[in-house]
Amino acid sequence: MSYAIVYKSRTGNTELLARTIRDILPQQECIYFGTPDEKALQADVIYVGFWTDKGTCDEDITGFLKSLTTQQVFLFGTAGFGGAEAYFAQILARVQENLGKDARLVGAYMCQGKMPAAVRARYEAMEAGPRRNAMLQNFDAAQSHPDAQDLARLCASVKG
Ligand SMILES: Cc1cc2nc3c(=O)[nH]c(=O)nc-3n(C[C@H](O)[C@H](O)[C@H](O)COP(=O)(O)O)c2cc1C
Repeated sequence: MSYAIVYKSRTGNTELLARTIRDILPQQECIYFGTPDEKALQADVIYVGFWTDKGTCDEDITGFLKSLTTQQVFLFGTAGFGGAEAYFAQILARVQENLGKDARLVGAYMCQGKMPAAVRARYEAMEAGPRRNAMLQNFDAAQSHPDAQDLARLCASVKG
């Protein structure tokens, strides 16, 4: 079955997931790898990767998901906040709402992704208290992600 890997990544986290998926799938069946492009629409299965932008995917991925027709879709994404599967499930549910009505979701995977230093500086400037502490703690926990375990879980999820 032919496949395409379509993704958006600002700082490389989601791109690492995209490359990892490419590495474990048969190279000869890959018809497209890159940012949203209609060339990918010819594939039987499309792996669509997104970074979390205010609780959902960015506009380009939204538009691409809406353009899907009968393809099988595997969603993968990264988010700055991790630690709770329920949080990932909520994001995935929002992203999934953009899928063309005949497209079929065959799998999904999310993990945490590190954030730029400027974000930590913003948290540092917050008023001292539990919220600031939680934000800083999450920022520091995110720094090592996606890690080897995240990628192993992604591979297991892709292989079904
Ligand atoms: C403008 C902006 C908005 C973001 N919004 C969220 C958000 O709502 N929830 C979240 O968990 N992470 C959020 N993040 C963090 C990114 O989704 C996260 O760092 C992601 O792994 C970046 O992926 P990339 O390296 O592929 O660009 C945001 C980051 C930016 C720059």
